[in-house]
Amino acid sequence: MNSFTYRNPVKLIFGKDSVQQLKNEVPNYGTKILIVYGGGSIKKNGLYDQVTGILKELNAEIFELSGVEPNPRISSVRKGVDICKKEGIEFVLAIGGGSVIDCTKAIVAGAKYEGDAWDIVLKKVQVKEALPFGTVLTIAATGSEMNSGSVITNLETKEKYSWGSPLTYPAFSILDPQNTFSVPLNQTIYGMVDMMSHVYEQYFHQTENSPLQDRMCEGVLQTVIETAPKLIEDLNNYELRETILYSGTIALNGYLSMGVASDWATHNIEHAVSAVHDIPHAGGLAILFPNWMEHTMHERIERFVQLAVRVWGVDPAGKSNEEIAREGIEKLREFWKSLGAPSRLADYNIGEDSIPLITEKAMAKGEFGNFKKLNSEDVTAILKASL
Ligand code: NZQ
Ligand code: ZN
Repeated sequence: MNSFTYRNPVKLIFGKDSVQQLKNEVPNYGTKILIVYGGGSIKKNGLYDQVTGILKELNAEIFELSGVEPNPRISSVRKGVDICKKEGIEFVLAIGGGSVIDCTKAIVAGAKYEGDAWDIVLKKVQVKEALPFGTVLTIAATGSEMNSGSVITNLETKEKYSWGSPLTYPAFSILDPQNTFSVPLNQTIYGMVDMMSHVYEQYFHQTENSPLQDRMCEGVLQTVIETAPKLIEDLNNYELRETILYSGTIALNGYLSMGVASDWATHNIEHAVSAVHDIPHAGGLAILFPNWMEHTMHERIERFVQLAVRVWGVDPAGKSNEEIAREGIEKLREFWKSLGAPSRLADYNIGEDSIPLITEKAMAKGEFGNFKKLNSEDVTAILKASL
């Protein structure tokens, strides 16, 4: 293991009707509150009325930023920052998924910065101060509710970057599985692909001696693999939603990567794909991940073999390591396809002509990936295999 220091200050409030806990949490932070939400799902499912009702009971002065896009734009961040500065906002409440939460993280940091919030995303400046914020999560996917990361898109420059700061952990996150009942089938599938991908990013490392980390990763993967086929047939099942909601949080709150150097190359390539083509994050991951695996497996094939045997039940008898590894990758492909996830860039009408620009965007900050450092030839090869 590598030496590590771990601190995660998020107060996680999980369970049925946990939204009521807003009554205890919000008063700790002030009364001038900006609520941030997306394209309207919270108005349709009643969560908006529920949350604003509670805030009104608390005599809060409520300001709103709505319409935060999936793959949130810097333009939305700027709107939120303007409201915070103009109105003297004391606390921001994100009500939504990863996009709304990521946008909120940039807003709370931007609100305490004099320049343009895009500087923060570009990591030109270090975040020195941020407004406090909380979240009411509505979709199981990114883990943003319990980490400090944020991913923001600049449509004009076709850039999508992740950034984060110790000051951008939510003060609290409220997770009620009931609030995820209305997530449509396709977004439910994307969420499960995303959380599995987060585990893969952390499983493929070059660090020696990680037996507990391995078992924890395998446990999350096995849980999602077992639950996903049932959930897509039964979207209003509380127990299944609950299992997947908890899996998504554990997959990316730092528990799985203590002491190991996780990879994140596939996420970097995906962010370039969705920066250029604005496709759903996990749609891109479902296409790219198996091809990244085939491209890099020889860097440390034992990791692939262990995963194939332990998680996918591949029988190793009489097979070479390469055969076992390939069988594990194929099982993953089949599994994601069986859920209904896309498997080729062509599914989004992305053709070979896009590859140079996507590669350029992915390489903007130089070579990347800890399992195998990828250069532009590697990225091009993975994208070509994904066409
Ligand atoms: O905008 P609304 O109307 O709310 O609809 C959303 C949106 O269209 C809908 N939705 C969410 N909850 C719902 C619901 N519809 C009905 N009922 C509900 N309860 O789902 C759609 C997608 O929402 P979004 O927030 O975009 O999904 P997700 O949570 O998957 O977030 C994706 C974003 O997070 C970034 C991605 O790149 C992408 O921009 N990521 C953030 C990470 C992080 N901060 O740690 C890590 C990830 O790897 C990822 O990169
Ligand atoms: Zn992701």
